[in-house]
Amino acid sequence: LSTYSVELLASVKRGSGQPLRRQIEDQLRRAIRSCTLKLGSPLASTRDFARQLGVSRPVVVQAYAQLAAEGYIVIKRGARPRVARCIGSCRQRGARRQTTISSPKVDFRPASPDLSAFPRSAWLRSLRAALATMPNDAFGHGDPMGEEALRQVLAEYLGRVRGLVADADRLVVVNGHTHGRGLVCRMLKAAGVKRVAVEDPCQPGLPAAVESAGLKVLPIPIDCDGIDVHALYRSPAEAVFLTPAHQFPIGAVMSGERRTAVLGWLRDRDAIAVENDYDAEYRYDRPPVSALQALEPDRIVYEGTTSQTLAPALQLAWLVVPPALLATARRDQDDYGWGAPRIEQYAFADFLLRGELDRHLRRQRASYRSRRDALLQALKKSLPEATVCGISAGLHATIAFPKADDERAIQREAQRRGVAVSTLSQSEIIHRARPPMLVLGYANVNEATIGVGVNELAAAVRAARLRRPVSN
Ligand SMILES: Cc1ncc(COP(=O)(O)O)c(C=O)c1O
Repeated sequence: LSTYSVELLASVKRGSGQPLRRQIEDQLRRAIRSCTLKLGSPLASTRDFARQLGVSRPVVVQAYAQLAAEGYIVIKRGARPRVARCIGSCRQRGARRQTTISSPKVDFRPASPDLSAFPRSAWLRSLRAALATMPNDAFGHGDPMGEEALRQVLAEYLGRVRGLVADADRLVVVNGHTHGRGLVCRMLKAAGVKRVAVEDPCQPGLPAAVESAGLKVLPIPIDCDGIDVHALYRSPAEAVFLTPAHQFPIGAVMSGERRTAVLGWLRDRDAIAVENDYDAEYRYDRPPVSALQALEPDRIVYEGTTSQTLAPALQLAWLVVPPALLATARRDQDDYGWGAPRIEQYAFADFLLRGELDRHLRRQRASYRSRRDALLQALKKSLPEATVCGISAGLHATIAFPKADDERAIQREAQRRGVAVSTLSQSEIIHRARPPMLVLGYANVNEATIGVGVNELAAAVRAARLRRPVSN
């Protein structure tokens, strides 16, 4: 029997007319039914619980015995009492979820890099170095804008790798991309922006984030050169969200002409752009293009993240903010207390300084290129009628099917075969005439599994065609 003591949130009222034993039983029963106490979780020993409540031990013994008789808890000699793992009458949400979610055999949804490639040893070295060198003060609340040590090396890295105009003072370290995106929306609102143009299709979740800051979303179509700048001019937008290095999800790289046109629009309208550079470190068959921010640093907010280069688990991302918006960023970070974890920031600074990110990216580029090539080969063999785009960079490809196909039906059939894919409609704001399309992330699937997954996908496409209603 382990000796740690379990705290339980409960109390008793003397003189309430209800026996103390009943009060304890009722509270535990309620907590178990409402999932506050989870199935299988440990309970305090009768001795500890009696001490916590200030009652005699037999009162708790009787209450536990009653709950055990009802099947809510399990009492075994020599073991800590526990909430039962399965309770006939209790419908705990978590328990039901566990039985309905089954993970796919092949997951092509575009969400993460190769999770098995996380550089554990190098990260551990940096974490150790951080813990060994952080002054005692660094374990307190830090600067909510981020650690100076990290901002300095990040500014150097971003200048070197992405051509960014970024000194440390413009950098804000945030708790992952989603936090950064929310902060950007609030900064736009505070700057007086009311209407925000968003590439359509775009990252799912972006329109809702813009709206939840009280801003109006204006969907702007894109083509294979990037956002439609004529449509941008026709709109009353005062800001625009862009993914110039690798449009999400189509995969287009914004052309030189389009970049010039976007910069012209920014100046003509005195507008602000938000550049999401989420996977720009990965490019395969094209020369690097610098971040757009480098060309108009006082009108562009830059968003970067470790989510695609290292792992979403780190939840470390950053913004490079034009000077005019910095005060709002600081106020927001102060108000919400959302500075990123300091120990990880020190570790990441060490990781960058040692050149570990550069090393990791060199290795991963080669690996992702092989995975991408395996995907292309498998598609050519099993689905020759599909057109593939967006593959010169990033970690996902977009696959267009003949017009008569139905992307949702293909997704459903693929799911039945254990293959998870995303449809383009999941990223659309407005549905426009276009071929059916799937978005396939290949970074977290090894080459052999890519082949298996594409075979299953081809079977799913055929099955979806067979189920199609015959039109006259
Ligand atoms: C367009 C885009 N931006 C940003 C991210 C990073 O988001 P997160 O940190 O939530 O994984 C992703 C991840 O897939 C993405 O597709």
